[in-house]
Amino acid sequence: CSKKLPLHSTVLQRITFPLMLSVGTAVIGSLQFGYNTGVINAPQKIIEKFINETYFERYQEPISKTTLTAIWSVAVSIFSVGGIVGSFSVGLFVNRFGRRNSMLMANVLAFIAAALMGFSKIAHSWEMLIVGRFVVGLYSGLSTGFVPMYVGEISPTALRGALGTFHQLGIVVGILIAQVFGMEAIMGNDDLWPLLLGFIFILALIQCILLPLCPKSPRFLLINRNEENKAKAVLKKLRGTTDVSSDMQEMKEESRQMMREKKVTIPELFRSHLYRQPLLIAVVLQLSQQLSGINAVFYYSTRIFEKAGVEQPVYATIGAGVVNTAFTVVSLFIVERAGRRSLHMLGLLGMAVSAVLMTIAMALLDQLKWMSYLSIVAIFAFVAFFELGPGPIPWFIVAELFSQGPRPSAFAVAGFSNWTANFIVGMTFQYVEELCGPYVFIIFTVLLLFFLVFTYFKVPETKGRTFDEITAGFRQTAATGGEKNSPEELNSLGADSPL
Ligand code: GLC
Repeated sequence: CSKKLPLHSTVLQRITFPLMLSVGTAVIGSLQFGYNTGVINAPQKIIEKFINETYFERYQEPISKTTLTAIWSVAVSIFSVGGIVGSFSVGLFVNRFGRRNSMLMANVLAFIAAALMGFSKIAHSWEMLIVGRFVVGLYSGLSTGFVPMYVGEISPTALRGALGTFHQLGIVVGILIAQVFGMEAIMGNDDLWPLLLGFIFILALIQCILLPLCPKSPRFLLINRNEENKAKAVLKKLRGTTDVSSDMQEMKEESRQMMREKKVTIPELFRSHLYRQPLLIAVVLQLSQQLSGINAVFYYSTRIFEKAGVEQPVYATIGAGVVNTAFTVVSLFIVERAGRRSLHMLGLLGMAVSAVLMTIAMALLDQLKWMSYLSIVAIFAFVAFFELGPGPIPWFIVAELFSQGPRPSAFAVAGFSNWTANFIVGMTFQYVEELCGPYVFIIFTVLLLFFLVFTYFKVPETKGRTFDEITAGFRQTAATGGEKNSPEELNSLGADSPL
């Protein structure tokens, strides 16, 4: 399975305006996901005060600490529950309505959520806030399937990784905007926090205006709908050239394969030995992203910095957001050169080393004051290495590992694994930290090393290979009874495709 893409078809790929408009519009969904991940962090105290006052109005007594903590934890974590349900439902939409129209429809959820959260203060109802968080979680869960799928399907092979990284870029920019808007001086205050949460309305509106200007996925048109002329017209627009024969040929080949495969349901995905290998890889990569501990940093960074003796923890948190964004951009530029496999391994290794440094800094803090600086450096490095590989790659590699038939189900399973792991880390980190103290990140170090070994032995390079070539590789492996590739073989697959 070591076919390489001919040189001309990769170097001649063009970044056209319709392509960038489509990618840019789609990733507004990713921006929403990131924004809602980060938005609840800074205004915690202020929203807790609202809950407290509302409680007093209703029951004429102050709320107990346990009830307040419970309401707050539910409001925070129900977002991931929505994400789990949403991501698992991706397959219900994409084949029936298409990728683009599914994204458009999902905005109904964003509008409902914006209204629920934005009016919760006026309505004196924390219940509206909680339901709103759940609904925007549904939207975000759907987005984590819709966006990478659409972007993967409209991108030319040689740019699939770079454009796929835009999903993660949308997420990180969303987190950063939320961190900045959430500062007290901007919207993180008593008067404006409903606006802070309702702001997603504007993003939804922009996406609704722009999406109808974006083309439908050509793969959906040709492979699912058999509308060859429309697919061709869309491809011409996206590629900015009238000669789209190689794209069409590749899609037709995939379509022929699919006649044999048909649409694959989630139970079939698990049953067929054909998909065992790519499914295992997709799920483990999602787990490597979440169990790396990244969200322990993003949900609790202010607290971690406080414990590490940093004087202005809020600014350090925003610093982490900036590093996060900067390194996603770095990844975007190098992912087509360095490849997915090597960047993912580099990222995991770098995170493991940073986690050890972080532990040393936390453990020695009492003896050495300057350890608080080391902790900042270690956390920034942890985040930077995350964004080189484990942040962006798991999202878009799912589209690469599966052909059109099983792709929606694969996204559902991968998204479900990602969101569930996200939920578990978010819920348990604080408790585990109480148990382990400064040594809590050692757990993530062990997990990171495990994922590093897994990637080395199991994950093939997908850079520069068409969807069809990638799946053909897996078919071959399955046909030979799961005969393993050596790490060298996995590495060289498509490794020298130029950009
Ligand atoms: C990834 C993760 C998300 C995390 C973010 C941090 O997109 O899926 O959970 O918050 O990266 O940049």
